[in-house]
Amino acid sequence: MKRFIGIALVVVMVISMVGCTTTETDTGTDSKKVTVGVSMPTKSLQRWNQDGENMKKILEEKGYEVELEFAENKTESQISQIENMITKGAEVIVVAAIDGSALTNVLDSAKKDGIEIIAYDRLIMNTDAVSYYATFDNYNVGKIQGEYIEEKLGLKDGNGPFNFEIATGPLDDNNVVFFYGGAMDVLQKYIDNGQLVVRSGQTTREQAATPNWDEQEAQARMDNILTAHYTDERIDAVLCSNDSVSLGVQSALKSAGYGTSDKPMPILTGQDANIANVKAIIAGDQSMSVFKDTRALAEKVAEMVDAIVNGEEAEVNDTETYFNGVKVVPAYLLEPKFVDKTNYKELLIDSGYYTEDQLR
Ligand code: BGC
Repeated sequence: MKRFIGIALVVVMVISMVGCTTTETDTGTDSKKVTVGVSMPTKSLQRWNQDGENMKKILEEKGYEVELEFAENKTESQISQIENMITKGAEVIVVAAIDGSALTNVLDSAKKDGIEIIAYDRLIMNTDAVSYYATFDNYNVGKIQGEYIEEKLGLKDGNGPFNFEIATGPLDDNNVVFFYGGAMDVLQKYIDNGQLVVRSGQTTREQAATPNWDEQEAQARMDNILTAHYTDERIDAVLCSNDSVSLGVQSALKSAGYGTSDKPMPILTGQDANIANVKAIIAGDQSMSVFKDTRALAEKVAEMVDAIVNGEEAEVNDTETYFNGVKVVPAYLLEPKFVDKTNYKELLIDSGYYTEDQLR
């Protein structure tokens, strides 16, 4: 009997040790789960749904309790959702900001409660309450788009003049500074020397902005430009900073008769490799997109959460670029990838990002 009790005790001890180790590696605390808030800007764009779901899945697998919210592109909703996460006792909040400059107050109160903030994809401005930033190399996104137009039009060889327009994102998204900047660092010289002619004259980030990255806004602006400046002229290329803008521009072009053998679509860029846009690439309506593997971004952010919860430093690879008006936010930048008709299968299907059926 004594022997049996002894064995039983050893078994109980071993089981409880294994139990403890698992919880510790997972969240760095005892059995109580650590809550992590995840605040995404909107459900209206494919990418943020994926980002949100990936984050939730990875964090839950690591043993966290996850509060995931989407804010319908309304800053007030995002603020009240973050306030709720604070009330619910989140220890870390991951935020993809709608308006990067509108969260100072709510994040100050998070900081007072000892909550740490990770900026997801978009930098959060004017606050010291943000600990880390994880994103893709946003400057490179723009550069890839600019170089694509440069190559396809043969601008380096002196070809031109070509008619060219720009459609970028909203002024309150700090990423746009980099998307637009990276592309214009390649293309501005060709505007200056006349190889690219912008008939609308709308070349600044302000003039070429698309509020909320909204497809209809992009379409309406391009409708106006085409009516006012291209009744007798053909447009050769449009720099579109992302896929929703690109879809809006495509609709405007199609209404103006583009997309036939007589009047082919101009060179059109994009970003995100959304399903509708990959289909447009396959159909020949859009020329390329920039693929940002949201699975890798979510993994990186989950590692940052672990580091914070365990009181460690997270791995970063950029400590210079992302000054938010108050501090340089330590950042981890992932590499964006060029995608077009020639490599989408390898990049998007073989990697398991999409199934072949989703792109049919
Ligand atoms: C993201 C892009 C996205 C855009 C619109 C940007 O901040 O970096 O990937 O297309 O927002 O949601």
